[in-house]
Amino acid sequence: MNFGIWIYMQHIAIIDFGSQYTHLIARRIRELSVLSKIYPTNIAAKDITKDTIGIILSGGPQSVYDNASPKVDSAIFDRGLPILGLCYGHQLMAHTLGGEVVPGTIREYGRAQLTILNAQALLDTVPSPTTVWMSHGDSVRTLPNGFTTTAETPDCPIAAMANPEKNFYGLQFHPEVHHSEHGTHILKNFVYKICNAEKNWNMENMVDDVIENIKKTVGQKNVFLLVSGGVDSSVAFGLLTKALGAERVYGLYIDTDFMRLHESQEIKTSLEQAGFKNLHVLDASATFYKRLNGVCEPEEKRKIIGQAFLDVKDEAVKKLALNPNEWMLGQGTIYPDTIETGGTKHADTIKTHHNRVEAIQKLIEQGLVIEPIADFYKDEVRTIGELLGLPKELIERHPFPGPGLAIRILCHDPSRADNNQLPTTNYQLLPIRSVGVQGDNRTYAHPIVFTEHADWETLDAQASAITNKERAINRALLLLNPENGHTFELPSKARTLTQDRIKLLQDIDAIVHQEIKQAGLYNNIWQFPVVLVPIGHTHFESIILRPVESREAMTANFYRMPHNILERMVKKIIATKKIDYIFYDITNKPPGTIEWE
Ligand code: XMP
Repeated sequence: MNFGIWIYMQHIAIIDFGSQYTHLIARRIRELSVLSKIYPTNIAAKDITKDTIGIILSGGPQSVYDNASPKVDSAIFDRGLPILGLCYGHQLMAHTLGGEVVPGTIREYGRAQLTILNAQALLDTVPSPTTVWMSHGDSVRTLPNGFTTTAETPDCPIAAMANPEKNFYGLQFHPEVHHSEHGTHILKNFVYKICNAEKNWNMENMVDDVIENIKKTVGQKNVFLLVSGGVDSSVAFGLLTKALGAERVYGLYIDTDFMRLHESQEIKTSLEQAGFKNLHVLDASATFYKRLNGVCEPEEKRKIIGQAFLDVKDEAVKKLALNPNEWMLGQGTIYPDTIETGGTKHADTIKTHHNRVEAIQKLIEQGLVIEPIADFYKDEVRTIGELLGLPKELIERHPFPGPGLAIRILCHDPSRADNNQLPTTNYQLLPIRSVGVQGDNRTYAHPIVFTEHADWETLDAQASAITNKERAINRALLLLNPENGHTFELPSKARTLTQDRIKLLQDIDAIVHQEIKQAGLYNNIWQFPVVLVPIGHTHFESIILRPVESREAMTANFYRMPHNILERMVKKIIATKKIDYIFYDITNKPPGTIEWE
């Protein structure tokens, strides 16, 4: 983040231990009209400047009792500043000040009920009980001297602690995520009541800053922007064109064939209608199919796709005879793309996003990439899009990942038997795996299948209980057509990414999206991946419906769809006679991610 003239302004310092949510904490504080800055863990207490009014220790993927895990200069606790520890930061505070942290017998991912025992300043006027979002394996077992327990959950006896005399507070949960019901209230207490911050940071000036920043970064060069047609790259296209003029921005839409049904044409039309005259389209589907032939492992798929985008772009630059020294690469990368790819020092790689593969990281290091919205989240990007006057249908479109349907089609290679061998449990698991995020770490594990229907609330609680308890399970599915039996087998022959499978998923995805549009649910659902998996008994193709509600993709809960609409959708999918089973993904994030790969 370019803080420009705000360098010497009162601010909250956030020390980054690699949480998926560190940047989100900074953003939440800025939303409260107070500046916040992110610092690395090796910052010395003496280098925390006079204008710092409080410190937040972020979460992180490690365990404090590992010698190699990141620590903090313990002198920060002698600076007389208020300190708030979150998750790993809460554990680190306890550990550093003489308490004890242990691996939890029960881990907590996603929703938990917090009961406040003693509000102190931090939890002042927060209703109790309240829903909070957790993502941890370790827990504080013994408090440091001078602290009291201020809140608990059924599985975490010290979910919050405080030493009000010193203004030290620790929370095992994440108040910064949208899914923690009164999270903003808690952060307000910290920022305004405990740190006595003044409101003097202004978000509205952000767009002007971004445009200035583009001009400064690009200088005399031009920008070759990869446009995917989604919200992010369209907004980046708008910002770059506004800052530099259409003649200096070459927008290239690379058609991979992995988009939804008719989507490529729709994107072209809507960008042209939005007034972009500098958009060009290139069909590169043959390259993408060829390179992905036989590839099953999700990370390998993602890396190949990212590299293919870059190679196709280089080829186009060559054909157009553009001088590479005069052009920078533009991308519509947003913050979750960076953080999920392990983009900060202590963060784990959850998934390599297509705009963060190794070759691009190298170009970034050489200063050859411009990413005007890399510090923002999806909802902020939508706000910028509105300010730029982009059409509503572009801005409100559901997010869609750059690698497209290619990462929504699971593949299978029987010659790699190790891949899907099921762990021994008492549960019905599917012989396929998906990516998840638990305690800031990546997981790649099997889903459990529930065949007994219940109301959404009960299913949600059952799903959370199982993924918290069983390490081998990171997702839960509800079988929607049990009348078709329970034979969840993999095919004996390889199933890879083919045009036929893309076409099949496009058709089913079109049925699903038509149904939710007709039912008026499109804007209630944040994103709706439809995933094709090679299991069953006849066609060996099944569908997973994964609608979610989210605000900025860092946390999500599965959408509770009205049953009559779901039934209609299932009937229509079955009527294609190409699908064995249909499942509904009832996993929140964490422990699941939104996409399966
Ligand atoms: P996950 O699956 O990690 O996804 O919960 C969070 C959000 O990121 C999108 N996503 C991507 N977007 N390139 C993108 O442009 C990618 O490689 C990529 N991978 C995931 C995903 O659709 C969701 O909105």
